[in-house]
Amino acid sequence: MSFQSSNTRTLKIAIDGPAGAGKSTVAREIARRLNLKYLDTGAMYRAITLKLYRARISLDDLEAIAELLENTALDVTADQRVLLDGEDVTAEIRKPYVNNLVSPVSTIPLVRRKLVQMQQAIAARSRGIVMDGRDIGTRVLPDADLKVYLDATLAERARRRFKEQLERNIHLTFEEVEAELKERDRIDSERADSPLTVAADACVIDTTDLTFEEVVAKIMSLISGRVKQR
Ligand code: CDP
Repeated sequence: MSFQSSNTRTLKIAIDGPAGAGKSTVAREIARRLNLKYLDTGAMYRAITLKLYRARISLDDLEAIAELLENTALDVTADQRVLLDGEDVTAEIRKPYVNNLVSPVSTIPLVRRKLVQMQQAIAARSRGIVMDGRDIGTRVLPDADLKVYLDATLAERARRRFKEQLERNIHLTFEEVEAELKERDRIDSERADSPLTVAADACVIDTTDLTFEEVVAKIMSLISGRVKQR
């Protein structure tokens, strides 16, 4: 499939869904094919979680959280490295202790307000963008050209994440991985501020029985339809 680059270079594409649905690998590939910027918003929540953890700040100490957010430099580079106050924390933010704390941190409206502002500023600066997260279609890019909600059964998502963790040399049991995803989904879906939900105008893709290439092809064909309508 080929696109006139002038038609696609300003596209804003939102990809949301639960943990382990394949959002980031798919979003990165779509961005690569269309030569768009890619932003993994989950990495930003993970980085703030890491900083709060290291500073031993209690999640109900809103004053301390506000001060920490004021004094944090967060940067996601073009090659997807995450820099927290200049330190490369790309690998650290994927560790189990961050997985276990990131959803509670992400319920805090102060944290969300700050990161959503940063994400919207990044989108405004870039001509086109693919972003993945939980609230991209509903909150961060409500006027996205295409909103995709990627889903899969819990068992399949846990299987994928278990394999990924092993490749990163993180040794958890399948049951531990499954329980972590389930708990994170619960907190992300039940929180009051921008919960994980399917945007009214999102296209839902169940990836349980699809290969990576099939998911990418489906999204590329949805994009092709949108570009023709422009
Ligand atoms: O990669 P995975 O799906 O496991 O998670 P992630 O995208 O790295 O996001 C980690 C966590 O950050 C999620 O479980 C949410 O709690 C939070 N998050 C959020 O609240 N809003 C976003 N836009 C992105 C992530």
